[in-house]
Amino acid sequence: MISSTTPLVSATGVSIDYIDAGGRRTTAVEDASFNVQCGETFVMIGPSGCGKTTLLKAIAGFLRPARGMLLVEGQPAREPGPDRAVVFQDFDQLFAWRTVRDNVVYALRVARKMPSGAAGKKADEMLALVDIARAAHRYPHELSGGMKQRAAIARALALEPSMLLMDEPFGALDAITRNQLQIELKGIHERTGVTIVLVTHSIQEAIYLGDRVMVMSSFPARVREIVDTRDATDIESTHFAELTGRLRALLVHREEQLDQPDRAAL
Ligand SMILES: Nc1ncnc2c1ncn2[C@@H]1O[C@H](COP(=O)(O)OP(=O)(O)O)[C@@H](O)[C@H]1O
Ligand SMILES: [Mg+2]
Repeated sequence: MISSTTPLVSATGVSIDYIDAGGRRTTAVEDASFNVQCGETFVMIGPSGCGKTTLLKAIAGFLRPARGMLLVEGQPAREPGPDRAVVFQDFDQLFAWRTVRDNVVYALRVARKMPSGAAGKKADEMLALVDIARAAHRYPHELSGGMKQRAAIARALALEPSMLLMDEPFGALDAITRNQLQIELKGIHERTGVTIVLVTHSIQEAIYLGDRVMVMSSFPARVREIVDTRDATDIESTHFAELTGRLRALLVHREEQLDQPDRAAL
């Protein structure tokens, strides 16, 4: 049984290794401990190549930790499942030979075993939610990058996942589209209450979208600090500026801190 206080994700001393063709082991995530609470937007931020995607993949069930304990809804994170929908940075995550609507319908039919009538209805609802209903009958190659990401988010949300895992979903978008999608994702989060685990390397995006921001060190990723950012929604506010400074300092001073990882980061 999951009580309302059970974290959706609970990581204790999680380390993740890659083993190369020669059998050599490299640790990409080192001794990470954190919880993700139900309904929050939990952001992971860190320098490029530090191990953010690796950690997200472990939560999604694509990778197993070498050491430590990683629980999702109280159970070890194993195979990927529709309870953990993933949205990637890559624009090519939609099926190219299906329309936007059929991408969502297909996901519902396969992952949720929904009959086509119900799947169509749900798809229309989700496309409206992410404001892409007008492009429902277009194919992915007829969409802009922003529209593709909206469609990917619609498809993920349609599955009614217990959490939405997003790996730099807006990283390849132009600044204006990115801003628009940030505002919309915040609205979607408020309306649906879905738990979001978001990877980004934008400090502004982390503070704006996040309830809590986990700052990671450079490779191999260690948890540097978890900062509460839930009150910072106004980009113009002093609080937002203070948090920006704090996160920047945590990211910039990573090299000096590498020798003294903060292990009490919970
Ligand atoms: N499949 C893999 N095999 C070996 N090393 C990998 C693999 N995927 C990622 N890495 C390495 O692990 C480190 C962390 O990668 P990643 O998690 O993708 O970083 P981030 O998402 O923070 O940019 C990088 O040094 C990368 O080269
Ligand atoms: Mg990455």
